[in-house]
Amino acid sequence: MSDWRTYYEQRQRTAEEAVSYIRSGDRIATGHACGEPTYLVDAMVANAQVYEHVEIFHMVAMGKCEYAKPGMEKHFRHNANFVGGNTREAVSCGRADFTPCFFYQVPNLFHTTLPLDVALVMVTPPNEDGMVSLGVSVDYDYEAVMTAKTVIAQVNDQMPFTYGKLVPVTEIDYFVEHSAPVMELAKPNIGEIEQIIGEYCASLIQDGDTLQLGIGALPDAVLLSLKDKKNLGIHSEMFSDGVVDLMEAGVITNQCKTLHPGKFVANFIMGSRRLYDFVDHNEDVLMLPADYVNHPLVIAQNDNMVSINSCVQVDLMGQVCSESVGQKQISGVGGQVDFIRGAAMSKGGRSILAFPSTAAKGTVSKIVPFLDPGACVTTTRNDVDYIVTEFGIAHLKGLTLRERARALISIAHPKFRDELQQEFVRRFPLG
Ligand code: COA
Repeated sequence: MSDWRTYYEQRQRTAEEAVSYIRSGDRIATGHACGEPTYLVDAMVANAQVYEHVEIFHMVAMGKCEYAKPGMEKHFRHNANFVGGNTREAVSCGRADFTPCFFYQVPNLFHTTLPLDVALVMVTPPNEDGMVSLGVSVDYDYEAVMTAKTVIAQVNDQMPFTYGKLVPVTEIDYFVEHSAPVMELAKPNIGEIEQIIGEYCASLIQDGDTLQLGIGALPDAVLLSLKDKKNLGIHSEMFSDGVVDLMEAGVITNQCKTLHPGKFVANFIMGSRRLYDFVDHNEDVLMLPADYVNHPLVIAQNDNMVSINSCVQVDLMGQVCSESVGQKQISGVGGQVDFIRGAAMSKGGRSILAFPSTAAKGTVSKIVPFLDPGACVTTTRNDVDYIVTEFGIAHLKGLTLRERARALISIAHPKFRDELQQEFVRRFPLG
């Protein structure tokens, strides 16, 4: 038996034993998104009475987030870098915190202001060389493993084995073997408006482009509209099932990519079991940490890089809020600005922010004279490039403030254009 096998066997623990290594006052990072080691997190929550003031750093939380529920305040404090449906209430009522940070800089937080006591991650069983894969989430999980004082891993044989950045078993302190389905992301509903927006976005994409797509109905609608394109590539913070469909249709080949030609590059994935089977032991998929994949200077090495993301509000100057509704934090910057800046530096690059013109069942315009009081600027007016709604495309880069306002009004929902026009006249009385 080689050394790594002895090490691996000696460090097997039950979940209950493993979470007993967590101490009051520790800072923990839990595996990201669908890579969350839910079996370990459940064991930690079941052990809550033993802990006081354990900080849990997390980004996209797909699990139950019971540590952020009422009654858990004394034991856990959730520190979110991205707020989702399961954590919005906890952050908005002050039971949990939010830390703004570009995704590409998150791994470095563990070296600077947020050093970790414990990393709780999910990995595959080791291969013949004693290496495990972080599977669906390499993003910040890799740096969490490399920097945390104690690393506890749920070893799950249902986690796909992905290549790019493998971890030697000796970097992990304790192993809890537990087989369970990896969390899946439900398919979004793509309505008529999303389809129209998808078509407009597709009109801005050329054969041979390399794409970054966010999550949700809009990116999926864009993918549906790309069926006639050729030789597209993927360099994206994440991707989902729609990308597999386009690969099978021969649209995505990655052949024209100037960085990692022939490879899908991402730092995490979320989707169905079909997606996880596609990436499993697939040498054409490179799953790499966020400080590489999302670094604007790395993104820029892809010629013809196109980023497609969404937002909450855009004001008439082109300032974009993508993370809050007024003061209420509803998500986070994620990789939006990383990719907008990377695409801006890419030869032939472009960035698109696409969204339905209205929100809240058509009662509010997303194009507004002023951002709501307390709303944050995610993408500045200096960074913004293309804006797309179901009423068309506004290419803001290089336009004056007056031209931007006019272009944005032309793609706002018609029922809100008069109000926007009144603000235009007030600001630019000479027209
Ligand atoms: N005014 C009031 N409410 C608004 C609003 C507005 N202008 N825009 C959105 N909302 C509300 C919606 O009604 C919805 O409320 P509900 O959950 O109560 O129904 C909620 O905010 C979320 O909006 P929705 O449009 O459903 O979100 P989405 O799933 O399409 O995501 C973003 C849109 C902007 C939140 C998302 O793209 C994001 O987080 N972007 C930033 C991060 C990013 O781009 N990452 C890069 C790639 S992963």
